[in-house]
Amino acid sequence: VIPVKTIEWRAGEVRILDQRALPGRKVYLRCSHYREVVEAIRTLAARGAPLIGITAAYGVALAAWHSRARDVPGLRDDVRRVVGALERARPTAVNLFWALRRMERVAATGGSGSVASLRERLLREALGIHDEDRSTCAAIGRNGAKLLRRGATVLTHCNAGALATGGMGTALAVIYAANQAGKGVRVYADETRPLLQGARLTAWELRQCGVDVTLICDSVAASVLRERRADCVIVGADRIAANGDTANKVGTLGLAVLAREYGIPFYVAAPRSTFDFSLRGGEAIPIEERSAEEVVCLYGTRVAPFGTRVYSPAFDITPARYISGIITEHGVALPPFAGSLRKLRQEP
Ligand code: MRU
Repeated sequence: VIPVKTIEWRAGEVRILDQRALPGRKVYLRCSHYREVVEAIRTLAARGAPLIGITAAYGVALAAWHSRARDVPGLRDDVRRVVGALERARPTAVNLFWALRRMERVAATGGSGSVASLRERLLREALGIHDEDRSTCAAIGRNGAKLLRRGATVLTHCNAGALATGGMGTALAVIYAANQAGKGVRVYADETRPLLQGARLTAWELRQCGVDVTLICDSVAASVLRERRADCVIVGADRIAANGDTANKVGTLGLAVLAREYGIPFYVAAPRSTFDFSLRGGEAIPIEERSAEEVVCLYGTRVAPFGTRVYSPAFDITPARYISGIITEHGVALPPFAGSLRKLRQEP
C-alpha cells in the first residue's frame, strides 16, 4: 500500500522526500545538519503531524551523530539547543513536541555513560518512533475500516495519508485497509488551498495505490455532501484537546458543519500521539499563520493585486460536537468524548 518512503536514516544522513516537488518529481533532500531538518519541516518538505514528529526525532539524532561534544553533558547541551530550534519549526502539530519530549528523555537518562552510547541510543529512539508509527497507522486502518460499508465513498481533506506519516497514513489508512478487505471504497479529495496538499499529494498517493479518486475544488465539497455523493467524511488531525476538539488543516471545520447539516458522519483519524491532554478544549491550541505569499502567488504567478492584505491560518478547530468518532490505534472513541477519551488517555 505504501507508495513511497517519506523519510529514511542512511549513513549519518536524514533523507527526506521533498513533498514540495510532488507530484512532478520525486526528490530526496539529503540532510547532514539539523538546520536542514528544521527547514524541511518549516517549508513543508516534510509535513503531516505524525511525519513532523518522526522528522524532528531524526533531526535530534542527526545533531547528536555529528556533535563534537567530548562528554555526555556536552552532548546533552547540544541536544537541548537542537530541540529548541525544532520546537520553533511549526506550532500546531503536537506530534512534534511529543517526539521531542521522547528524545529529551533519552538524552537525560539513556546511554551507558559515553558519548558514543548516547548517540547510538538517540538514533535507536528515532528509528523506534518511526517504526512504531508504521504499526500505529496499520491499527488505525484496521479499526476505521469497520466503519465503511462495501462500495462506500469518502470525502477527505488535505493529506492524511502515507505521505503524512511513517506508515500507511491515518485517514487514508482507513480507506486502504477497507480496500484490502475488498470493499472497493472511493474517494473525493478536496484540493486544499492554499498549498494544494489534496491535489498534489492525496490524489497522487491514492492513484499510486489504485484507489478511485475524484479531485474537487474546496468549494465543491458543500455540493458533494448535499447531493449525498459521499457516505462520510474522514480527516486527519494535528492536535486533539482532551474534550475532542480537533485542529486540522483549515477548511476542516466547514466540512464538519456541512456534514452535520446533511446528516453525514464526520470522522477524525489520528494516533494517540496527536492528543494533547494538557488542553481542556480547542481554544488553547496554537494555530499557525502562514505567509501571504502562499495565498497571493500560485506556482510563482501572482493571482492577487500587490499590497492585498491576507489572513492565512493553516489550521482550524472543529468543536467535538461535530465529530461522530475519533479513530485511533486503540479503537474508535465515540461521543461523549469526556469518557471515551479519558480511557484513551490511560493507554501508553
Ligand atoms: O500543513 P500540513 O500539510 O502539515 O497539514 C497536514 C494536515 O492538516 C493533516 O491533515 C494532519 O497533519 C494529519 S496527517 C496524518
